[in-house]
Amino acid sequence: MRPRGPWRAIPGFPVTFRYVIHTFGCQMNVHDSDRMAAVLRHAGGVPAAGTGDADVVVFNTCSVREKAEQKLRSEVGRLAPLKRCRPDLVVVVAGCVAQQEGKRLLARIPHVDLVVGPDNVPELPALLLDRMAGAAPTARTEFDTLAPRFLAAPLEPGRAPVVGLVTTMKGCDERCSFCIVPHTRGPERYRPTREIVDEARRMVAEGTREVLLLGQTVDSFRDPALEPPGGDDPDETQFPQLLRALVRQVPALARLRYTSPHPRHATESLARAHMDLDVLARHVHLPVQSGSDRVLRRMIRRYTRAEYVARADRLVRARDGITLSTDIIVGFPGETRADFEETLSLVREVGFVSLFGFKYSPRPHTAALRLHDDVSEEVKSERLARLFEVADVIGSAHLSSLVGTRQQVLVEGASKRDAGSAIRVQGRTDRNEIVHIDAPEAASLIGAIVEVVIARANRHSLVGVPSDVPPARAQPRGQVRRLPVYG
Ligand code: 5AD
Repeated sequence: MRPRGPWRAIPGFPVTFRYVIHTFGCQMNVHDSDRMAAVLRHAGGVPAAGTGDADVVVFNTCSVREKAEQKLRSEVGRLAPLKRCRPDLVVVVAGCVAQQEGKRLLARIPHVDLVVGPDNVPELPALLLDRMAGAAPTARTEFDTLAPRFLAAPLEPGRAPVVGLVTTMKGCDERCSFCIVPHTRGPERYRPTREIVDEARRMVAEGTREVLLLGQTVDSFRDPALEPPGGDDPDETQFPQLLRALVRQVPALARLRYTSPHPRHATESLARAHMDLDVLARHVHLPVQSGSDRVLRRMIRRYTRAEYVARADRLVRARDGITLSTDIIVGFPGETRADFEETLSLVREVGFVSLFGFKYSPRPHTAALRLHDDVSEEVKSERLARLFEVADVIGSAHLSSLVGTRQQVLVEGASKRDAGSAIRVQGRTDRNEIVHIDAPEAASLIGAIVEVVIARANRHSLVGVPSDVPPARAQPRGQVRRLPVYG
């Protein structure tokens, strides 16, 4: 491969190149893309304005459902003509599809240059330079099981995100029969508490107000440096101790959240942490997947409906006003109409204020592949639509009940512009409700926790007005910083 553009001008390394990263999938992937960008910048990369302008195009991919994977394939496919015109363009597939397919991807999509698994991001610059220097297309998809590496998110002084994502663990030791994640992300590895606390502290010192802890089963956390889990519940972990260590050692932290916990580890000590720690969000996203014991067993979720309800209930009662949201799969193999009705009844019983619903999608390397995918596409669609109907009724009632109340909103950034509106910002309450704020000086509120009165409820969000001063002279409360919108 012949170096082109700015590389030609530079005889040695580091070279300069323009990169663009396209991200698909979950928050973990968004976070991984930030870290990829940091690694690329360190190696001499500068962000390109768009794909047409880039020397290196990275697709950070998701394979949790087939649709996400198909989308990736068509996006990468669309680059083929560009690559024909510019053979020096380097096309990288990273993330879960990369891990799942490895070098098969190189054979299947001939214009892909590099395939890089989630644990191999630190090797990306070296692989890029080799490829630029003419090496053959390569796939690097090895888990760092023996010596796990956790790259910190990039942090530029004064440009900290309002909400900072911090990785606490990676991989998954559960064996849910529908899920490809143990295959694409490997076994569980935990980041040392000291590193997690240090990263949170640095972010907060630069202006971050809220830390969102990330892990595939974030509440299975273990660290020999922490006190052992107490009690005789075998599902107790050291995650509650991690939360306490963070709150103790980063006293300026305004809010703390985590995602996603496995219900098995929503233990007594986790509920106690919610009781004791005011900065902990009064909202937990607790994926249940189904309300039918028969389906839960076939999904290998390792809890019954009654156990889930008891654990959810204990969390909700830990502190006034805690709300729950969840993930649900409809049309799992063998799911009958009665099973699905059980799911709807669970949604009503727990009263999830919001949920993500998915049609079951068979994935490679999963145990459920051995089950017959016998629920038709049509029935899956019907069930999903009914699920959303039920969820919307509960969600809307919840949001409407907040009209007229005062809420503390952490302002994250500009709202997506809607026609005719004044300048607006958006943020979240400590229960994760999205609030758009109407105020002329709204932009100066970014990074502040503002008390608002909720004026009205939209379908999935709220609209509020700063509470104590007329909007024309709205003053932020607490620390105000002009910070970039996260994400
Ligand atoms: N089919 C449909 N949904 C799935 N999820 C994970 N695997 C599958 C699958 N094979 C959903 C689960 C999980 C969320 C991230 O994606 O609900 O919690």
